[in-house]
Amino acid sequence: MDNMLLWRVFPLLTLLASFLLLFYVQNSSKLSHKECSLLPYQHYWITSKRIVTPQGVVSGAVEIKEGKFVSIVKEEDRHWNSKVDHILDYGDAVVMPGLIDVHVHLDDPGRAEWEGFPSGTKAAAAGGITTLVDMPLNSFPSTVSEETLKLKIKAAEERIYVDVGFWGGLVPENAFNSSALEGLLNAGALGLKSFMCPSGINDFPMTNVSHIKEGLSVLAKYRRPLLVHAEVQQDSEGHLEFKDGSYDVRSYSTYLKTRPPSWEEAAIKELVTVTKDTRIGGLAEGAHLHIVHLSDSSSSLDLIKEAKRGGDSLTVETCPHYLAFSAEEILDGDTRFKCSPPIRNAANKEKLWEALLEGHIDMLSSDHSPTAPELKLLDEGNFLRAWGGISSLQFVLPVTWSYGRKYGLTLEQLALWWSERPAKLARQELKGAISVGNQADIVVWEPDVEFDLNDKYPVYLKHPSISAYMGSKLSGRVLATFVRGNLVYREGKHAPAACGVPILARRKD
Ligand SMILES: *[C@@H]1O[C@H](CO)[C@@H](O)[C@H](O)[C@H]1NC(C)=O
Ligand SMILES: *[C@@H]1O[C@H](CO)[C@@H](O)[C@H](O)[C@H]1NC(C)=O
Ligand SMILES: *[C@@H]1O[C@H](CO)[C@@H](O)[C@H](O)[C@H]1NC(C)=O
Ligand SMILES: [Zn+2]
Repeated sequence: MDNMLLWRVFPLLTLLASFLLLFYVQNSSKLSHKECSLLPYQHYWITSKRIVTPQGVVSGAVEIKEGKFVSIVKEEDRHWNSKVDHILDYGDAVVMPGLIDVHVHLDDPGRAEWEGFPSGTKAAAAGGITTLVDMPLNSFPSTVSEETLKLKIKAAEERIYVDVGFWGGLVPENAFNSSALEGLLNAGALGLKSFMCPSGINDFPMTNVSHIKEGLSVLAKYRRPLLVHAEVQQDSEGHLEFKDGSYDVRSYSTYLKTRPPSWEEAAIKELVTVTKDTRIGGLAEGAHLHIVHLSDSSSSLDLIKEAKRGGDSLTVETCPHYLAFSAEEILDGDTRFKCSPPIRNAANKEKLWEALLEGHIDMLSSDHSPTAPELKLLDEGNFLRAWGGISSLQFVLPVTWSYGRKYGLTLEQLALWWSERPAKLARQELKGAISVGNQADIVVWEPDVEFDLNDKYPVYLKHPSISAYMGSKLSGRVLATFVRGNLVYREGKHAPAACGVPILARRKD
């Protein structure tokens, strides 16, 4: 080739190369979009005999387009069928709004070896949870400022298989500094969380009622909630019994005596003095207080009921482990069951179910709080020294269902406690219900299919061995999970890409 020819061909070659590059880039971005979902299309219908909607359980179909519910059609109005391309027919399986778990510790960044965003959100997807809200502690650093929230958001990017929101931490260091709290809330924290007893994590110190009052007054402007771990340490050493001159540290009853119901009661007594401010016309009108993981179903619950009757903006959650287990059944040394507040006796459990079914307990959450297996001290079985926290994220739907069936639990109640009310707490108007216009977050599951949670069962949690549920038989198998229309999980398989999004609260205007 002579020089003249080269100069004439060169621009053409460049043009050709850039076309190829453009084609490649387009093709690969299309591919990565496809990797968000196990379905190759974005517009489809799901049919089932049991679709759980806010108007009740219906037999029919829902139409999903570009991540949203665009129509819901009952079986009677069958004319929709003729012009439809893609139908996923789930027959008798239940189609429910995806679960929203407002209390999860994924420990990322900083302690990702305890769980981490990828394994935690894969487990969530496999369990029918489409959104979770991560707690500000157990990760390192704790999420107590704008900067530390940004670290967490960065750690979550492209590593989450479901949508993830974040609570910020209310601690003594920021409680009296409204600009620090506003920085955290402006950066997208969905609300704040604080402890009334030592949290077990040094960089997350406990708050007193003055800090909580301050927190509520800032939250009022943002109309976001404060979540509180309600236990106040009482002098309870006297309750411990001696056995052979020492505490029997392998006995669950020893641990139970160290955290009696009076701790919860004392905390809630203090809390209801400040929740009065959240009433209409009160100093913190617009703020809301949410008591996490209630275990005591006696005096504590009475105080909550009374405050609600008085008009306080107050809600309360409990967790599946308080509804599934009772203290009497926990074997010596089985520290998988250690959590705080502790699992109490069978009579307490019965009363918790009663309160839930009567509407006094508003919702459920997992309080999934794993750790490295070494810290559970499973060999030693020392209940006083082992890490407190129950690992459960992937199993909460079948656990709630399996243990709730004998109380006559309905599908509508499940959706209320696990989706609708949690969505409201986290202020997610487009989530939590199968309604036209909402994001298409869905779990499809088979209530009557039983399974053994053994070594052969696919568990996506980082440390399955520490979960209190391993070894149990449950009913309610998850078939498929959709997040904003993407099929992120189907029978043992996840979508290739982690396309969950960080959910950030919008700045107040
Ligand atoms: C484009 O994507 C398809 C798969 O969707 C693949 O088979 C093909 O090789 C890709 N082409 C380029 C140029 O990357
Ligand atoms: C309050 O918080 C802001 C933002 O984090 C910080 O710059 C300031 O120093 C804090 N003020 C006090 C008195 O600690
Ligand atoms: C809470 O602790 C702060 C110090 O961080 C203190 O100033 C305040 O008086 C305490 N409030 C109560 C009710 O103990
Ligand atoms: Zn927790």
